[in-house]
Amino acid sequence: MAHDSDHVKRVVKLALYIAKKEGADLEVVKVAAELHDIERGKKNHAIESAKTAEKILRERGYDENFIAKVKHCIEAHSFSSQAMGVKPESLEAKVLSDADKLDAIGAIGIARAFLFAGEKGLTIGDVVRHFEEKLLKLIDCMYTDTAKEIAKERHEFLKEFYEKLKSELISEQECKDEVS
Ligand code: NI
Repeated sequence: MAHDSDHVKRVVKLALYIAKKEGADLEVVKVAAELHDIERGKKNHAIESAKTAEKILRERGYDENFIAKVKHCIEAHSFSSQAMGVKPESLEAKVLSDADKLDAIGAIGIARAFLFAGEKGLTIGDVVRHFEEKLLKLIDCMYTDTAKEIAKERHEFLKEFYEKLKSELISEQECKDEVS
């Protein structure tokens, strides 16, 4: 699946890397990254994941201040939450949002987009539209300087792939027009 445990592992790794560079609280970032997609698949998964994470952390005996910090990171990490006005306020929340979005661009992002399309029975044209509507815009959604730096290279590769794909789709269409 496009949103599987490998995605979570990559986000934990990326988030910790960014957190170290930016001087964020590593424990908050790590726990938030591990739990950020726990309710993936549900409507409004960021809000639902935050609620479930709160329960889990309380059971594990974490203090309320720590839980609140983690909860905010998870609530504010998704594209849809941010579109609804739930923006990352803390450095830790910005780090998680950046790490999650970095995993949606570059070679990994391309691979995930096609995995997702395969699962849903979508077409290459649908993926092209997803690139245009979302993935190619993510470079402008990065908060930290560390993530902006990583995003540059990943975005360039994504853009190059997108343009090549689009040009081949167009020439395929031209062939069809000539034949018919
Ligand atoms: Ni995620």
